[in-house]
Amino acid sequence: MLEAQEITWKQDHKTILQSINFHLLPGECVGLIGPNGSGKSSLLKILAFLETPTSGLLFFQGQSVPKNVPLAIRRKIAIVFQESLLLNTRVFDNVAVGLKIRGVSKETIKQRVDYWLEQFGVIHLSKQLARSLSGGEAQRVSLARAFAIEPDVLFLDEPFSALDAPTKEALRVDLAKVFKTTQTTTVLVSHDFKDIAHLANRAMILLNGQVAAEGAPTELLQNPQQGDVTRFLAHFTS
Ligand SMILES: Nc1ncnc2c1ncn2[C@@H]1O[C@H](COP(=O)(O)OP(=O)(O)O)[C@@H](O)[C@H]1O
Ligand SMILES: [Mg+2]
Repeated sequence: MLEAQEITWKQDHKTILQSINFHLLPGECVGLIGPNGSGKSSLLKILAFLETPTSGLLFFQGQSVPKNVPLAIRRKIAIVFQESLLLNTRVFDNVAVGLKIRGVSKETIKQRVDYWLEQFGVIHLSKQLARSLSGGEAQRVSLARAFAIEPDVLFLDEPFSALDAPTKEALRVDLAKVFKTTQTTTVLVSHDFKDIAHLANRAMILLNGQVAAEGAPTELLQNPQQGDVTRFLAHFTS
């Protein structure tokens, strides 16, 4: 679905990402984990075509992606950030916006928006203004908006980290259910190994802008790792 070869990203003479190789198969969720500043969001932005790498190649559905990324490719992806970027309109209209842009018929929009608000347990908020939502509700609406366009690849950058523990836990459970039914191909960034263990099929640990380890989440915890990876993972096992 998506592949990156030897991605390097430099800003202000600083190397933020170095020689990253990445691939994403249809239907899998790959977790990017690492401490603050390790380059997770930078890598996500490059994979989602929001930043251009300094060097390296990107392939989307088998095709090489040019520097000027075609709209046809951009429209196949959806992104959710830590802080929900909702327009201050009603919840329904927020979820509908991506479908309107894509020229989906009014009837289908209504159907799909209601379906996704239902899946994320926020259908009762449909007429409420986005500004009046709690953090957890807003993130549920953001996820409904992303799933509504039925993206080929979904990018989630720390989607729960602004939420308190019970709110986060409930949303993680609901998202896991949605993944199970939709098999949406996803890149999930988190600094919390628990999110990755619950939701990702495969994880990559980033340390200082480089891939330090890769594998199934449980394997990463069980198998011996190099020193700095062990030190990072120790935060989640104690
Ligand atoms: N646009 C940018 N210009 C300069 N430095 C940046 C830019 N974006 C990110 N960085 C730096 O790159 C490093 C990695 O940042 P980031 O990818 O946001 O890490 P993470 O998401 O893992 O916390 C940080 O040191 C950050 O300051
Ligand atoms: Mg980040």
